[in-house]
Amino acid sequence: SPYWPGLIEAYRSRLPVSDSTPVVTLQEGATPLVPAVEISRRTGCDVYLKVEGANPTGSFKDRGMTMAITKAVEEGARAVICASTGNTSASAAAYAARAGLVCAVLVPQGKIALGKLAQALVHGAKLLQVDGNFDDCLALASKLAIDYPVSLVNSVNQYRIEGQKTAAFEIVDVLGDAPDIHCLPVGNAGNITAYWQGYREYAADGTASRTPRMWGFQAAGSAPIVDGAVVENPQTIATAIRIGNPASWVKALAARDESGGRIDAVTDREILAAYRLLARSEAVFVEPASAASVAGLLKTAAAGELEPGRRIVCTVTGNGLKDPEWAISGAPAPVTIPVDAAVAAAQLGL
Ligand code: F0G
Repeated sequence: SPYWPGLIEAYRSRLPVSDSTPVVTLQEGATPLVPAVEISRRTGCDVYLKVEGANPTGSFKDRGMTMAITKAVEEGARAVICASTGNTSASAAAYAARAGLVCAVLVPQGKIALGKLAQALVHGAKLLQVDGNFDDCLALASKLAIDYPVSLVNSVNQYRIEGQKTAAFEIVDVLGDAPDIHCLPVGNAGNITAYWQGYREYAADGTASRTPRMWGFQAAGSAPIVDGAVVENPQTIATAIRIGNPASWVKALAARDESGGRIDAVTDREILAAYRLLARSEAVFVEPASAASVAGLLKTAAAGELEPGRRIVCTVTGNGLKDPEWAISGAPAPVTIPVDAAVAAAQLGL
């Protein structure tokens, strides 16, 4: 049927819900898997983009949040809390509003994109800016969830991972099998953990014949997994993945090693180049952090470490409208003209 009921209904048998679970949904999931023509040409591979910015609040977080908020309601919670670099807070605020729950969010002061701040506020979240980074926010949120009657909905909550694994299911359902390689940005490392779980579940029961190699990419100034050490003061223009001590670090290493994959770093320059390529050539507008997956793929191909002919999926995690600053700063300022066709034509080079 053409009606999409949201991912919990679509994958009900593979998720921890019962007939009496009160499903909270905004019809998230079923996002486009777009063939990437130019990136395929450059790499000699068959590359697709899993466009997660097409979710209701504009990021992949909605997959996890439909599950986390559904289970919070089922368990009788009245309030939820999260730490966030922006997207988790936007998603938690929306799903909490839908469910009639109080939503508290802790964000690093001055380090989240304006669109995400707007989303959290418009959906009625109680938002505190913390004088610290994301890692400080997560430690604080975890402590509050222990000491006060409020449920933590960060990806340390296993229901988040359960929801997010459905992206891997959708890819296999569309392609007919798992790809050879799956690329994605890595921040707190929940999403790479979730995809790996989803791919493994499909392979375990024969729905897929195999699992892909998992390729995760961190921003170079915020690459604790690549460096093998906590980054005390993480830096990158990709604020969504400005994280120095990922909660799912060990699980990300397992995804890498069990899949025969890699976790590597990409510079801000490489991220912005991929960001512009995605917008100009593939016509997919993502936020900077999302472009880390494509930046990593292109870097690996340029280093001669990618065999041509592979089928590859890159997850692009969030919508570009959330953080338009980089789109505007990278473009020439628009020219103002009088109401005059000749002047317009001259300016346009027609
Ligand atoms: N891409 C975007 C757009 C994100 O917002 C995030 C994480 C990631 C990638 C990385 O995913 O953390 O599962 O490895 N954002 C979180 C947040 C931290 O608070 O919105 P991850």
